[in-house]
Amino acid sequence: PVHKRVEDLLSRMTLDEKIGQMTQAERAAVTPEDITRYRIGSVLSGGGSTPTPNTPQAWADMYDQFQRAALATPKRIPMIYGVDAVHGHNNLVGATIFPHNIGLGATRDPELVKKIGRATAEEVAATGVDWTFAPCLCVARNDRWGRTYESFGEVPELPAAMSVIVDGFQGRKLNGPTSILATAKHYVGDGGTTGGVDQGDTQVSEAELRRIHLPPFRAAVKRGVGSVMVSFSSWNGVKMHGHRYLITDVLKKELGFKGFVVSDWNGIDQIDGQPGFTPQEVSTAINAGIDMVMVPYDWRKFIDTLRAEVRAGHVSMARINDANRRILTKKFELGLFERPFADRRHQRTIGSAEHRALARRAVAESQVLLKNKGNVLPLSRHHNKIFVAGKAADDIGIQSGGWTITWQGSPGAITPGTTILEGIRQTVGKSTTVDYSKDGSGIDGSYKAAIAVVGELPYAEFEGDRPGEMGLDAEDLQTIERLRASGVPVIVVLVSGRPLDIAKELPGWDALVASWLPGTEGRGVADVLFGVTKPTGKLPMTWMASADQQPINRGDGKKPLFPFGYGLTYRR
Ligand code: IFM
Repeated sequence: PVHKRVEDLLSRMTLDEKIGQMTQAERAAVTPEDITRYRIGSVLSGGGSTPTPNTPQAWADMYDQFQRAALATPKRIPMIYGVDAVHGHNNLVGATIFPHNIGLGATRDPELVKKIGRATAEEVAATGVDWTFAPCLCVARNDRWGRTYESFGEVPELPAAMSVIVDGFQGRKLNGPTSILATAKHYVGDGGTTGGVDQGDTQVSEAELRRIHLPPFRAAVKRGVGSVMVSFSSWNGVKMHGHRYLITDVLKKELGFKGFVVSDWNGIDQIDGQPGFTPQEVSTAINAGIDMVMVPYDWRKFIDTLRAEVRAGHVSMARINDANRRILTKKFELGLFERPFADRRHQRTIGSAEHRALARRAVAESQVLLKNKGNVLPLSRHHNKIFVAGKAADDIGIQSGGWTITWQGSPGAITPGTTILEGIRQTVGKSTTVDYSKDGSGIDGSYKAAIAVVGELPYAEFEGDRPGEMGLDAEDLQTIERLRASGVPVIVVLVSGRPLDIAKELPGWDALVASWLPGTEGRGVADVLFGVTKPTGKLPMTWMASADQQPINRGDGKKPLFPFGYGLTYRR
């Protein structure tokens, strides 16, 4: 049994080996020789930190190299490799990129979301990688927050239901050949910060924290999620990375979490608000209950500091052993000791037709039809003449959003997929003309309808915070104006990570579809526009009538533009 193996191994480990297990280094800041010499137990790829060339083969080779180095240590403890596979294996060129969580929330389809978890795990595991820093189970309460799109929805019930993606990631058994460890993040209250500021302060009572932000984590723990990542944010002024009550008393004891807790990127350095982590910050974080530290660069200093803190009696051996037990248990359960190297047999599933079909279905299910004046939608596929415009119409990178190939996303179509424009072209019959210009120029009154695909450029984390206006940019407004000036009905397809402030413009549009961030399979958007699939998506977020309503979802009687759960469909 696993626990016997863990205890046996633990009884033979030195302090340095134990500290090594608690250390996670960024791949670009560590060599295989370092892994062996310092007994480092985990490596990660931060967003966009990829091998060159960025191919499945190179990923697996890189993985195996680190793994060989880990196994060259006296105790031969395998390392565990983690990535942010938050909507598919999204750092890998050629992977299937699924809709971001906000779109999955709109589907209200947990079974589908579980399948997406499974497909993602297959693609991730095929490159050797053992672990994803997903799902994000935040309950996004303020659309100004740059991570709103990583939320399945603004009410706890939605992320709690969608935590079923953990079952997809982890498979029936953790040691299955395509199972990967999941991470419930960011514990806890990341979506509730004042002003929707990323890494900000969540100023709520304990009752509200438990009612709004805790339930998705409770659900994930029940599902046996293997790891939990601590939030950069604070709760009433205390940084989560130092919060012993919430990490140890609530998560580990009360909720009964048996996996291990990982820090966020250099998160321990934020505890005292001063740059550079101190011995106090290290001991505070470990004593709070963090088991593995995503250092990620200064891992030598971390190792030396933690060793000194243990020797000084500031961190107990009991705490070090507990952290190691948790980490080693997952390594055993994953089967890493038996099958430490990349299993490349499943590489044919990466970007496969089957996975892309699943993603296309998810895209179609995630579309939310918000306005449809005179039933302009669905458009006819036959004998039609349609004009398509907008900066997001023909760009895989924009429609995928942040956390795709690079941390901040990659506009300019650098991973294979189908843009929304291509999807439209593939959907219509030969008798229909589809013309396109990015900025809307060239349209005239001879078209039957115009589709403007507009919205937000990619962003991730704090880069996406919108403390000011929340509307479309000037380029998009101008594109839509050009289309409107032609006199043909205008359908706006909004590619965005959150509801935008569009109340003023909406009366001038004939139809509006919230597409969220659909990923690589733009055909799913066309499926809905042309009635191949009826729209069934429901808003996972209340849609503000103006930016000053944020946070809109406080239930204080503000009249939104569209309520939570809103979504039209076609009669026929
Ligand atoms: O997993 C992420 C987290 O969501 C934000 N900071 C970086 C981590 C690792 O890339």
